[in-house]
Amino acid sequence: MARSILLLYSFSRRRLSDSLRSFFFIPTGLALITSLFILFYISSTSNLFNQSPLHFKHSIGSSLIRVPPQDPLKSSFRNSDKFQETPVDAVAQWKLGSIGNNVNNEVFHDIDIFMENYKEMNRSLKIYVYPHRRDDPFANVLLPVDFEPGGNYASESYFKKVLLKSHFITEDPSEADLFYLPFSIARLRQDRRVGIDGIQDFIKDYIFNISHSYPYWNRTGGADHFYVACHSIGRSAMEKADEVKFNAIQVVCSSSYFLSGYVAHKDVSLPQIWPRQDVPSSVAPSKRKKLVFFAGSINSPVREKLVEVWGNDSEISVNSGHLKTPYADALLGSKFCLHVKGFEVNTARIGDALCYGCVPVIIANHYDLPFADILYWKSFSVIVATLDIPLLKEVLQGISFDEYLTLQSNVLKVRKHFRWHTSPVDFDAFYMVMYELWLRRSSVRVRLSS
Ligand SMILES: *[C@@H]1O[C@H](CO)[C@@H](O)[C@H](O)[C@H]1NC(C)=O
Ligand SMILES: *[C@@H]1O[C@H](CO)[C@@H](O)[C@H](O)[C@H]1NC(C)=O
Ligand SMILES: *[C@@H]1O[C@H](CO)[C@@H](O)[C@H](O)[C@H]1NC(C)=O
Ligand SMILES: *[C@@H]1O[C@H](CO)[C@@H](O)[C@H](O)[C@H]1NC(C)=O
Repeated sequence: MARSILLLYSFSRRRLSDSLRSFFFIPTGLALITSLFILFYISSTSNLFNQSPLHFKHSIGSSLIRVPPQDPLKSSFRNSDKFQETPVDAVAQWKLGSIGNNVNNEVFHDIDIFMENYKEMNRSLKIYVYPHRRDDPFANVLLPVDFEPGGNYASESYFKKVLLKSHFITEDPSEADLFYLPFSIARLRQDRRVGIDGIQDFIKDYIFNISHSYPYWNRTGGADHFYVACHSIGRSAMEKADEVKFNAIQVVCSSSYFLSGYVAHKDVSLPQIWPRQDVPSSVAPSKRKKLVFFAGSINSPVREKLVEVWGNDSEISVNSGHLKTPYADALLGSKFCLHVKGFEVNTARIGDALCYGCVPVIIANHYDLPFADILYWKSFSVIVATLDIPLLKEVLQGISFDEYLTLQSNVLKVRKHFRWHTSPVDFDAFYMVMYELWLRRSSVRVRLSS
């Protein structure tokens, strides 16, 4: 009896382990087959493996979709996977990756999505501005300037001036999508009571004041608040106000991915525009006899490299300091105009180039270009990595005249987005910044129980 039980037991054990073994193999085998199938499916249908991140479009209503830094050697042009197939030298790669046969007339990533969002933004975006009286001791910093803004930091002054007169303003904080902190970094810097050394404390005090006098800051830790600054001193202005740096939307000219104080996706790149009056409509591309020019102080390693390589070249005109001839003549007489990183990634040169119908050549690694999530920069500019400065001439001469004509006509199409007006005009720099803010509006609110 005991024996038969033992037999039965050992038999069933064997049976059991056999079947266990096959049970083990069935799911493993299935899993293997499924994985292979999934892998095959993904590789045959997905864009993941062979296309650039530029394919990501920003979708309606969703807030934050950004185009990553444009590295001409790495990202391939949309609808093109030639970059993958053809391992060639850097210039050829660069051409395939950015211009080649692919220059097209489309300056937007997706004009339909942009237009639909824009109309909704124009209809419904509401901004609340913290109010300050005319007799506030810091009225000079907090209220808009009463003159026509000019010079390098005009974008900051224009924005406030135009916003306060616009239909986006609401007096009712409960219907506001966003809250504007109206201090001016450029004016704080000039104010003797504050100065460069006092800006950080001023901002800290300002945030203390509004977060104690109003309930709005605390609801989101500042996430639905924004400020606008063009002066580069702004990049350290928030060092004593971490919540502004990490939560609020910073609309700034010094928009470098490399800076710890600038958070791509959350923050907004503000174009630095030196307002130019009486600009001739444009000069025909064939009348632009010079290939490319640069003028400016040699104040950075990138500019030093430029001088080192091209300082004596007959076609690449690199001028240290001011030109001896009028600046406008150079902008109108050259096919390409160089923007080269100085102290900061940003300068007014891109705006100048666009304004005068010159195709900008941008040498400023990590620059989060203005409106890069709306406009397709490679359709109206040439982006060259710092390391490729020695290839500059080859790259520019490699652009055929037809390709140049497309780039140049696209410059004329986009330049309205880089212009300020005291009374805003649809799609100008003001509206474009409003659109960027609209994309970043926050819907998360914490209700305070008080
Ligand atoms: C945006 O709003 C302004 C003011 O209401 C209006 O004049 C303009 O036509 C609107 N633009 C678009 C494209 O809807
Ligand atoms: C904060 O409020 C105090 C008291 O009203 C005022 O004296 C000070 O100037 C304010 N500071 C800022 C930066 O707004
Ligand atoms: C906001 O939060 C701070 C810090 O927690 C607090 O001192 C302040 O009273 C709050 N403000 C309001 C309006 O409740
Ligand atoms: C440019 O030419 C000058 C004079 O011939 C020379 O001194 C200088 O080293 C040259 N610079 C470069 C970058 O070749």
